Amino acid sequence: MRIVILDSADEVAAYGAEIFIRCIRQKPAAVLGLATGSTPLALYRRLIDANRDAVVSFAKVSSFNLDEYLGLAGDHPQSYRHFMNTHLFDHIDINPDNTHVPPGDAADPLQACADYDKLITKLGGIDIQLLGIGRNGHIGFNEPSSGLQSRTRVKTLTRATIDDNARFFSTQEFQPHLSITMGIGTILEARKVVLLATGAAKAGAIKAAAEGPLTASCPASALQMHPDALLIVDAAAAAGLE
Ligand code: F6R
Repeated sequence: MRIVILDSADEVAAYGAEIFIRCIRQKPAAVLGLATGSTPLALYRRLIDANRDAVVSFAKVSSFNLDEYLGLAGDHPQSYRHFMNTHLFDHIDINPDNTHVPPGDAADPLQACADYDKLITKLGGIDIQLLGIGRNGHIGFNEPSSGLQSRTRVKTLTRATIDDNARFFSTQEFQPHLSITMGIGTILEARKVVLLATGAAKAGAIKAAAEGPLTASCPASALQMHPDALLIVDAAAAAGLE
């Protein structure tokens, strides 16, 4: 695991975006693993700008998102499919058919999970996986105690994650407590993993991920086993590191 510490969240986004742009320029049909949440937004804005300026094309790219709320269809405003369309896919030249988000409205979620992993394999595996990190060390929706070799599956969200994400839902709105998430084993199969973390609230999780024991109590610590995992963090998120 390598760690790059930068002064600001903006520099984290710029550094991360450059890695994605370089990857796609080297392999125009790259398979990207993507994340939602607040952290990747600035990186996505940079990818949109680079696409607009013809620095990079997504015309041959495929993507797989980490996770989706179980119970929300893709046209629901709080769904991660909607998030990805709004914040990235609608603004770049990617073929929508090549973008994949776990189906939150699947009639048979367990089958949908198995199908998702199969499709990743069929398309050659993920070249570069983008990750954020939860305050409790989760990656995707792999909450603490997730199996380190887990595959894409249905997961119950912890109270901490439900509370963290409540900011996206209005008080009257149904907030799902279940998700479909790529497993930790699925994530570790990506050829390269890039985790972004910004802000003081992530300092404990980053310390546990990078310097703590390899443990299911901190799912991100599994990245210690990955041969090409890079953590890009700002000074605030790095504050706990030795
Ligand atoms: C989102 C995801 C989550 C987030 C994490 C951090 O697809 O997989 O693991 O990356 O909850 O979220 P933010 O960036 O909002 O702090």
